[in-house]
Amino acid sequence: MQTLFVNASQVVTCAGPARARRGAEMRNMQVLTDSAVATEAGRVVAVGRQAELGRSYAEAAVVDCHGGVLMPGLVDSHTHGIFGKPRHEEQELRASGVSYMEIAKRGGGIHGSVRDLRSRSEDELFVLALPRLRRLAAHGTTTVELKSGYGLSLDDEIKSLRVIRRLAQQLPLRIVPTFLGAHEIPLEYRAAPRTRDQYIALLLEEMLPRVVQESLASFADIFCEPGVYTVAESRRILTAARAAGLGIKLHADELETSGGAELAAELGATSADHLAAVSEAGVKALAGANTVATLLPGTMMFLGRTKQAPARAFIEAGAAVALATDFNPGTSPTVNFPLMLSLAVSQLHLSVAEAITAATVNGAAALGLAHETGQLAPGMSADLALFAIDDIRELPYWYGDHRCIGSWVRGIACHAAGSDGSFIRSTPSSAL
Ligand code: NIG
Ligand code: FE
Repeated sequence: MQTLFVNASQVVTCAGPARARRGAEMRNMQVLTDSAVATEAGRVVAVGRQAELGRSYAEAAVVDCHGGVLMPGLVDSHTHGIFGKPRHEEQELRASGVSYMEIAKRGGGIHGSVRDLRSRSEDELFVLALPRLRRLAAHGTTTVELKSGYGLSLDDEIKSLRVIRRLAQQLPLRIVPTFLGAHEIPLEYRAAPRTRDQYIALLLEEMLPRVVQESLASFADIFCEPGVYTVAESRRILTAARAAGLGIKLHADELETSGGAELAAELGATSADHLAAVSEAGVKALAGANTVATLLPGTMMFLGRTKQAPARAFIEAGAAVALATDFNPGTSPTVNFPLMLSLAVSQLHLSVAEAITAATVNGAAALGLAHETGQLAPGMSADLALFAIDDIRELPYWYGDHRCIGSWVRGIACHAAGSDGSFIRSTPSSAL
């Protein structure tokens, strides 16, 4: 079936090479007016003047964008969306001066979510995740990466990844699964008689082979941070994950400088994420590697930390920067990707075009999907988002608002403003 998206005030295409955009390349998002997008069989087939496409695709079904801004669906390349209960009590603790790591040392933080997730069934976790992902999609996200990492035992990690697989089967969203068995050293391996090395052995010898055998993940990730996994442990675990056939990612230099960015570059990881405490050498290393620097400004804001990742330094050094929500119950309980665009402009000092590129093409590259999604160009998947604004610069401007009125993944409607999808008209374009 052919579909023609018409009457957008702007079509933002992000069209260009199907790879991460680096440095100054991030400035170009391409904004078209009087333009339409044609899709067929789940792919974009044409982007061009509305009058011309109206003639070429005269029999296509029509989606009337009612003067909104049409753009590539947002690519959220870093979330921890599989968890049980929220952790709102920690927010007040932090406000009173207790740090994130101190809460973890007291057995809270990630450990609290681990206790909770272990007590829940696969069905229960699926039912909890479903509406959260629908809300994420409602803000314009069409591709989302989902990490395990609150199980930290063979059965509980497999359970989490199976929930992700069921979500991918159930929802039109494009979902990318990541194995994060190295999110923490679980408490039972932090005290005698067990040791952290025994947990790492379990991860390498039992969890990783099962994850691969059941094809449950595309990537492996690790929390490389003082007090959690050392650089040496991270190197060992990620090297094994890659040898087992997984792509690799790192939580690197999130709270303290430890050389995580340099390790990501050394290993050629697909992405290094967070980087609020990256060193100058780390910035240079990533700029010289094929590793996307994924920045998560919501996390630092929510933790009440003033130091954000040096986004300008990354771009000026020629690195490829992506943005993501880090949606999780501890450090970033938000499903609102456009809010990350607001923070990217006001806190990371990105231009709107850089922020949009970071949230689309570079997000896709951070998942190895730059050939498939992140831009509106012939051959790309028909992954689109429509916002009720007149100008793309309004997307970061109305901060915290909810302007997404439609999204499509592989040409299939994923979110519609009215539950009846009333803004979609199915009249042939020849009747326009
Ligand atoms: O990206 N840093 C590690 N993981 C998450 C936080 C997880 C949690 O606190 O539950 C993050 O910030
Ligand atoms: Fe994270």
